[in-house]
Amino acid sequence: MSASTTWLVTGAAGFIGSNFVRLALSERWCSRVVALDALTYAGNLENLAQWTGEPDRFAFVRGDVADPNTVDRVFAGHKPSAVIHFAAESHVDRSIEDPAPFIHTNVTGTQVLLGAARAAPGSPRMLHVSTDEVYGSLALDSTERFHEDRPYDPRSPYAASKAAADFLVRAAFHTHGQDVIITNCSNNYGPYQFPEKLIPLAIMNLLRGERVPVYGDGLNVRDWIHVEDHCRAVRACLEHGRSGETYCIGAENEQANIAVVRALAELTGRGESAIRYVRDRPGHDRRYAIDPAKARHELGWEPCIPWKEGLADTVRWYRENTSWLENVRTGEFLNFYDRLYGAQ
Ligand SMILES: NC(=O)c1ccc[n+]([C@@H]2O[C@H](COP(=O)([O-])OP(=O)(O)OC[C@H]3O[C@@H](n4cnc5c(N)ncnc54)[C@H](O)[C@@H]3O)[C@@H](O)[C@H]2O)c1
Repeated sequence: MSASTTWLVTGAAGFIGSNFVRLALSERWCSRVVALDALTYAGNLENLAQWTGEPDRFAFVRGDVADPNTVDRVFAGHKPSAVIHFAAESHVDRSIEDPAPFIHTNVTGTQVLLGAARAAPGSPRMLHVSTDEVYGSLALDSTERFHEDRPYDPRSPYAASKAAADFLVRAAFHTHGQDVIITNCSNNYGPYQFPEKLIPLAIMNLLRGERVPVYGDGLNVRDWIHVEDHCRAVRACLEHGRSGETYCIGAENEQANIAVVRALAELTGRGESAIRYVRDRPGHDRRYAIDPAKARHELGWEPCIPWKEGLADTVRWYRENTSWLENVRTGEFLNFYDRLYGAQ
């Protein structure tokens, strides 16, 4: 990218968004980031603390991506040259409890952002970050994997809302010729992940001497990718992807949930007794697996963080950042915005 690029990153205070912003600014993928985030329970401004004092390179806007006035103001004020859309409600269990916020943010939010990007001068490219969960579930005993041409079969309200958003993005390309790209990625792990998801929840419980809940028989399989590998794939798609295309992103690393938890128990010096089996999630998808051949061949992107190394680094990060974890656990992180910008 050229020297004077401003990227609008939605959901920038969340897990993947904040890792993306850190890489984008520290490795100078762009010259400036405008972060738009509603700071829901999953948004943590502390994740972006190193940039909040650098107004030339970073601006933070607290706002709802589904609110057209807010979004229009961001486009008019900052004139982004690209939009990277991470903002979402992202936790399957919460979507089963109450799908409404998922429709609001994931569907309406994506539609509002698409409209604003299309109307902005130069209609900047919008990359929509989506999930492999839109493709449904694979059998444990098959070797089949998800790929870009596979029909959608979302099976949770979360996956259904992401699928609806993906279709809106595809429709914007076909109807308006809008410059859009979709990435469908597998499960991410790494630093700054909110401890309601399997890996950070397990690490937090293990470090606190508590037991780790594992759903059902623990044999559900996920295809894990380090968050930095995902972020680099997003950058490659943004810069080199073909407009209107979908790219499946994964690191070809299938692991049963129970194997992940056992590995974490070992890394934290805890044993099998730290594991507690709990009643399965309703409609729990059995297996996800991504075939990332298209991204590899077209973009030259390769995941480069090996699973064992990435997992050990992740445990080390949570061990070394106990105050981050404690602030999240106690809810103290919710005051970070007011401390920085004042109560509004
Ligand atoms: N975590 C994964 O394993 C994974 C895998 C594939 C795809 N994805 C996708 O990547 C994206 C980011 O996931 P994540 O794990 O970082 O999620 P996250 O839950 O950690 O972060 C989501 C962020 O979006 C913000 N947000 C929520 N509603 C908003 C709204 N209405 N307006 C503005 N901001 C809002 C939250 O405050 C938070 O900062 C999501 O779109 C998700 O579907 C995640």
